[in-house]
Amino acid sequence: MFKLRDTRTSLIALGVGVSVAIMGAFSHAEPLGLGETATEEQIAGWDIDIRPDGKGLPEGRGTIEAGEALYEERCATCHGLFGEGEGRWPVLAGGQGTLKDERPTKTVGSYWPYASTLYDYIRRAMPFTAPRSLSDQQVYDVTAYVLYLNEIVEEDFVLTKESLAGIEMPNKDNFFVDPRPDVKNTRCMDKCADPKKLMIAGTLKGITPVGHFVEGADAPAASHDAQMEKEREEEKLRKAHITGEALSTQHKVKAASLSELALAGKATYEGACKVCHGSGLTGSPKVGDSDAWSARIKKGMPQLLDHAIHGFSGDTGVMPPKGGRVDLSDKQVEQAVAYMVESSQ
Ligand code: HEC
Ligand code: HEC
Repeated sequence: MFKLRDTRTSLIALGVGVSVAIMGAFSHAEPLGLGETATEEQIAGWDIDIRPDGKGLPEGRGTIEAGEALYEERCATCHGLFGEGEGRWPVLAGGQGTLKDERPTKTVGSYWPYASTLYDYIRRAMPFTAPRSLSDQQVYDVTAYVLYLNEIVEEDFVLTKESLAGIEMPNKDNFFVDPRPDVKNTRCMDKCADPKKLMIAGTLKGITPVGHFVEGADAPAASHDAQMEKEREEEKLRKAHITGEALSTQHKVKAASLSELALAGKATYEGACKVCHGSGLTGSPKVGDSDAWSARIKKGMPQLLDHAIHGFSGDTGVMPPKGGRVDLSDKQVEQAVAYMVESSQ
């Protein structure tokens, strides 16, 4: 963006001696010849922030109906059809009344203080893999829809510059100016306190999560597996609560005929793969569905394992490396693949 138009500037490279002479020349109020004036268009491209009162919002008119279609196409694979969040992708709806829980569900509806931030955020950052690919109008539509998913607006609501600024978010009043004295000090420019005499005091109150250290306390479970199990149960309940329906279509697994390798993979499958493969989400072959697996199984185990570990884009969708769980060892993935394959023959 910066262009060196002026030959004088290139002289700087010649050395300090020369540059001192040039400095003299620069002391006149002459332009340096560096850079160029940003165009209106360039400025508009950067100047996209929207303030809490709605200042900065473009013109537009968003409807729930248009937003729903767009959301399902561009957002639901990650955030879930109802904003319940797929796997570990962020939850966008629900969570009201959980902020004081051990694991609060912070969502647009339960947490965010301003609706205008939603417009700003989506426009600048979403969809995650293609930020700024939506038009201002599309952002209006999908913002309206996310508000609707959170039951903040009704089905016939029309989102405009004016109506957006008027929305009161449920958790707004829980944001306040930090009352602690140390954030209020005025900056000292003159006759300041002697830094040697200042003392920093701190307290652990409200910081140490006691539950972590107390055996049997109502806090994280004792073992990793138990913790995973606990979280899965909570996740099921949470989703069912938001969607108002039982989500999982259970598949029948022939436990008796599983090899040792496959049996060892059951827990990994349930913790890391079932979210997609349990129901065929995002085009994944559903475990237990032999039609969906027969052609794949013919590729052979090494190929399947390679695809599971390193990721794979096939005809039906995208298999993320290790299902997005890069913390899994290759061995664990192998066990899970064995479990999936043997359960789907
Ligand atoms: C590929 C997955 C993916 C897709 C598709 C996607 N998002 Fe996101 N979204 C994310 C991730 C990851 C974050 C968290 C980003 C971060 O914290 O830096 C996020 C965060 C958000 C948040 C903020 C959540 C919060 O409470 O902090 C909103 C709102 C949101 N997305 C809306 C959308 C909308 C609307 C779309 C569709 C136009 C969309 N997203 C598409 C992955 C996705
Ligand atoms: C986010 C969803 C998602 C998760 C999580 C996920 N998968 Fe997949 N997986 C897919 C999709 C989609 C495909 C189909 C890709 C295609 O063929 O187009 C797939 C395909 C596969 C295949 C077949 C590959 C082939 O060559 O046909 C295997 C094996 C597999 N996944 C294993 C796993 C394992 C093991 C895990 C857990 C560690 C896992 N997947 C987690 C989405 C997922």
